[in-house]
Order: sequence, then C-alpha cells, then structure tokens
Amino acid sequence: MKNDLINQSVDYINKSKVIVAFTGAGVSAESNIPTFRDDDGIWQKYNPQLLEINHFMANPADSWKVIKQIFYDKFANANPNDAHYAFMELERMGKLRSIITQNIDNLHQKSGSKNVIEFHGNSNKLVCTNCHQGYAIGEIDLNKDIPRCPKCFGILKPDFVFFGESIDQKIHNLAAREAQLCDLMIIVGTSGEVFPAALIPENAKFYGAKIIEINTKPSNYTNSLVDIFIEGKASRILKEIVNLYKQKYF
Ligand code: APR
Repeated sequence: MKNDLINQSVDYINKSKVIVAFTGAGVSAESNIPTFRDDDGIWQKYNPQLLEINHFMANPADSWKVIKQIFYDKFANANPNDAHYAFMELERMGKLRSIITQNIDNLHQKSGSKNVIEFHGNSNKLVCTNCHQGYAIGEIDLNKDIPRCPKCFGILKPDFVFFGESIDQKIHNLAAREAQLCDLMIIVGTSGEVFPAALIPENAKFYGAKIIEINTKPSNYTNSLVDIFIEGKASRILKEIVNLYKQKYF
C-alpha cells in the first residue's frame, strides 16, 4: 500500500512542472528538535504566552530565559536529517522550485537548499525592538538576562515571528505567489494549526495544484485537500521518494 503511494508520488513529481514544498516542525523532528503540538511538544512544556509579543516586551527576562532553553540550546547542535537532504536533492535535480517553511531552525539551508522562504523568520538573527538594527546570533552575548542592542541598548528579540506579530508582507506575498504558481505542493510535518501560514496549501489547491502530504498522523489538511497522504516519518518517506525518482527518471 505504502509503496503504491510512493510510486504515485514519484509519478506526480515527474509530471509536475512547478513543485513547492510546505514544511513544519515535523520535518525537523528527526533532527532532535521537538515539534510544538505533539504529546512531547514544546507547548506541552512551555506556555506559548511567553512568545506573545506584548508579554515579551513586558517581561523580557522571563521570555528570554525560555527562548534560550527552547531554541538556542536545542538548535545549536541540530543537524539536517534525510528529509532536508531529500528536498535539497529535488531542488538540485530541478524538481523543487522553493520550500516555504514555518520552521526557524535554518536546517533546510544547512542541508544545502537554496530557495527557502522562511514564513516565520529565522532564529539565527536578532533584531533590536527599539532601533530595528539586525544582528547575527554570534555577534551577541546570550548569557545576559536580557540581550541588548550594542547601538542603542534597546531590548533585542529573535528575528522570528512572535504570537501577536504580523508576517513580513514581502514574505507573505512571495509565499502566496509560490502557492499560486505551483502545480504540485508537498506538505511535510505540519498540523496546519497556525494562521496565516495554514492557508498556503489551501491557496495552492485553489489554484489547481495536486497535494502530497507526509505526516506521522493525519492533519487539518489530510481529509480536506490532500490527493496523496503517506503516513510515516518524513526522513524515510522522502528518501524513498527521491531514490525512486532518481532510479526511474533521472
Ligand atoms: N515526520 C513527519 N511528520 C511528523 C514527524 C515526523 N518525524 N514528527 C511529527 N510530525 C508531525 C506531527 O504529526 C504534526 O502534524 O509534524 C506536525 C507538527 O505539528 P506542530 O507541532 O503543530 O508544528 P507546526 O505545524 O510546524 O506548527 C506551526 O506553530 O507554534 C507555531 O510558529 C510555530 O511554526 C510553528 C507553527
């Protein structure tokens, strides 16, 4: 059964002209980065309120303490897994135009993918909440309770989207355009719970794209807009799909 779905997916990939991937935390789960809403997820251990922008500005020390634990301690030694490398290979073979990711862990780029649209930003950068100067993470000492801007001493925040913040308009428009242009979208490892990111696959479907979904369990998309649902871990399934594609068509 699963092999049949793998075969069908490979044929979709071969026939499609513009393929876009849409990824969530599940694509990095096998890189030992916890997801948000699984049983062992981040929001089971930490209050998402700590990443709400007004709470952050009122309690920067509390929020920064947790931000370091959740993101910086975890991400520091995380490496891409076979799912990230599978997407990089598809891009190299000219069979993936872009990846729209909700993840801020930089693992798609670390695996060699070039065209990555980071819908929720990236944890590798910090930005001053006062003068908006940007900094690479390595330029700032995170051991301070509240990392501050070397220029104006303003509070620094990670350059990813907090709850209560809007998505960068350019990024939003770019992602919407990719969804509109693609004739195949591959959704990997997302629950489809967070908006407006969750609308991206719906956008693709509306404009006529076929949808393949890879997830360890059904998501908000599975019964509504997915053409092929392959249940299982992203790294193994994507590796199988890419290997079979190379064997048959490349
Ligand atoms: N392979 C494939 N899918 C997996 C794997 C795996 N190894 N492990 C978990 N999953 C799936 C889960 O079944 C779930 O559907 O990944 C999904 C993770 O869902 P969430 O934890 O909700 O993460 P995500 O969808 O990326 O969250 C979106 O919410 O908190 C915000 O900004 C945060 O970008 C994040 C957004």
